[in-house]
Amino acid sequence: QRSHLAPTPPMGYMTWNFYADHITEQDVKSIADAMVTNGLVRLGYDYIFIDDGWQGGRDNRNNIIPDPIKFPSGIKALADYVHSKGIKLGIYSDAAPLTCAGYTASLHFEQQDAKTFASWGIDYLKYDYCGAPSDKETAMKRYKTMADALSNSGRDIVFGICEWGGRQPWTWGSEVGGNLWRIDGDIRDKWSASFDAPGTPTGGIGILDAVNRNADLVAYAKPGAWNDPDMLVVGLYGKKGPSGDLGGIGCNDIEYQSQMSLWCLQAAPLMITCDVANMNAATKRILTNKEILAIDQDPLGKQAERKINDNNWQVYLKTLSDGSYAIGILNTDSTARKYNLALSQIGLSGKYTTLNVWTGEQKKNQSKLMYEVKAHETIVLKLKQ
Ligand code: DGJ
Repeated sequence: QRSHLAPTPPMGYMTWNFYADHITEQDVKSIADAMVTNGLVRLGYDYIFIDDGWQGGRDNRNNIIPDPIKFPSGIKALADYVHSKGIKLGIYSDAAPLTCAGYTASLHFEQQDAKTFASWGIDYLKYDYCGAPSDKETAMKRYKTMADALSNSGRDIVFGICEWGGRQPWTWGSEVGGNLWRIDGDIRDKWSASFDAPGTPTGGIGILDAVNRNADLVAYAKPGAWNDPDMLVVGLYGKKGPSGDLGGIGCNDIEYQSQMSLWCLQAAPLMITCDVANMNAATKRILTNKEILAIDQDPLGKQAERKINDNNWQVYLKTLSDGSYAIGILNTDSTARKYNLALSQIGLSGKYTTLNVWTGEQKKNQSKLMYEVKAHETIVLKLKQ
């Protein structure tokens, strides 16, 4: 059983959307240093995850090895460095001979690679599905083979399933030993794919697309088993890292704050992917708000239910472990509007004290809420009786 791993949604940094396969050992060290210096590790962002592009093939005993130019000191030394900063290290492979970006992957080497990862001190494996057969049975089998290999590796390694939702991994991910599963294709730095110009080169889904998909999957999230709507694009601003064109068109700060709000309400893994050494004040404020992080990391592990989805309004309700609630009010329209909500409409009776987690504003004796909500904004309130 692997469900004791990831009792709350994993938090940290994932290299893909900013670095793509240009990630190097020096980059990982710089990310670790920046995450300590700007306080992210202390707040719980305690994984750094090396995505595709680290691999350098296999040695003459078929052991998978890192690219000697990108990772000259090897992954073990890097894991030691990262661990010394209080950060865990994640790595990437794929359930086929080659990864999505064409690097060496783990099919038929599951036991050996799991042992290698354990010997390096790896704490998290994201396992992709490029180049693998499309049927669900094969996917379940390949993911189970790697999960079992990780269980036998002698080290606790969180297992992330990345087959993009096509085979409904939320219905079997936990059973085969996964701790989280991507629910859809790659997220890009944009509000919604429905605003893409025809023929847009970036593709992928946007923040709202992932949220809408995740809203139907509430029943499947629990401690040790999470729906994963992909990385936080907060702070990318359409900026191209070494990854080139993966960045997307960019969002504004209200939209980034909405992503953080909705990811936390939906108990999603929180994987930063912006340039953490050079975050601006808005990005830092969004990523480091302790109230919103506590909603994501609530030990009950319940994903917010979407109670209202009407007239470009969405209302989310998340039950927290101390019996209190978090509410999210999302305006998906492209203009600011006023919203009135009687708490009885979402099944809450009585009067509550509300705390607006983004402004700090408290109001007592509330049974009817009235807020002006900007375009694409999500107001998040903590409610206590
Ligand atoms: C597809 C995944 O969905 C991405 O997150 C990333 O891991 C790339 N593959 C790497 O090739």
